[in-house]
Amino acid sequence: MTTKDFLDTNDFTKDQLLDMIELSRVLKRCVKAGYFPELLKHKTLGMIFQQVSTRTRLSFEGAMADLGGNAQFYAPGSIQLGGHETIEDSARVMSRLLDILEARVDHHEDIVELAKYATIPVINGMSDYNHPTQEMGDLLTMIEHLPEGKRIENCKMVFVGDATQVCVSEMFITSKMGMTFVQYGPKGHQIGEELLDIGRKNCEVSGGSVSVTDDREEAMKDADFVYTDVWYGLYDKELSKDERMAIFYPTYQVTKELMDMASPDAKFMHCLPASRGEEVTDEVIDGPKSICWDEAENRKHSIRGLLAWFCAQAEIDEPEAGEAHDQLNFLLEGIGKAPLK
Ligand code: CP
Repeated sequence: MTTKDFLDTNDFTKDQLLDMIELSRVLKRCVKAGYFPELLKHKTLGMIFQQVSTRTRLSFEGAMADLGGNAQFYAPGSIQLGGHETIEDSARVMSRLLDILEARVDHHEDIVELAKYATIPVINGMSDYNHPTQEMGDLLTMIEHLPEGKRIENCKMVFVGDATQVCVSEMFITSKMGMTFVQYGPKGHQIGEELLDIGRKNCEVSGGSVSVTDDREEAMKDADFVYTDVWYGLYDKELSKDERMAIFYPTYQVTKELMDMASPDAKFMHCLPASRGEEVTDEVIDGPKSICWDEAENRKHSIRGLLAWFCAQAEIDEPEAGEAHDQLNFLLEGIGKAPLK
């Protein structure tokens, strides 16, 4: 798999992902200090959204502006993508009009197809399979909130609730980092063996572990990060409120009592948006252990790093600016105009 695109963190090594995080941290420090390096000046990002978004859209758009570039937002249903025009043709056209592309798609195979035919970098803004930019924001957040004296690879994350694509994504990034990952969820809503195998493969390299359980004590024991997501299910298989409450409530709600079963320093995380009173109580999400607002802010800081990283990769094959400048002066001379300095 080419590294032109950011579709899945499993396409990258732990060191590469940590280098991207380090770049994000440097840029975060620059921006917080009021310095906005114009790394993406004259670059245009296209943002395809097949579903609504707050954090992902605002982060990509703001990150481009911070680095001197600009972003175009294509609302759900507003552009051709696999209808009248094939994904292949759309990818070719967008590659001529843009410098980098973000897409939030209903079906993961569509973004794989888009990336295959695009000659510009494509970043996955969430699919039915995974949410890699969420993973990177979460990794940055965990690194900033490490328990005292602990390294990331010594930490444990417990994901409480449904095996959403965010849950699977957290399993991917924690196993990549060598962490202990446990999904605490009811049978029928646990991560399947095929996906767990990807995490297990990561663990062979990283030394981490992945597991699923409906045993509360076992799941929560020594957890450093307690993560949850909505119980809605995915897109066309979306559960009604009655259905989801019957399956998950109250056992899999993150309450203060559940948090108290984790490590004393445990932090609460949520990708947001949250359905308060369902997967989490107000007391927890608004409480002192909640780091979900830092997590939301870090979406932008981590995406800024990813945009700079993937645009820089794409530039390697571009002609030297000096070469283009010489060509332009040659043309100006040909029509009797003074050359540019
Ligand atoms: N967490 C997340 O992706 O939020 P949005 O759906 O608002 O982008």
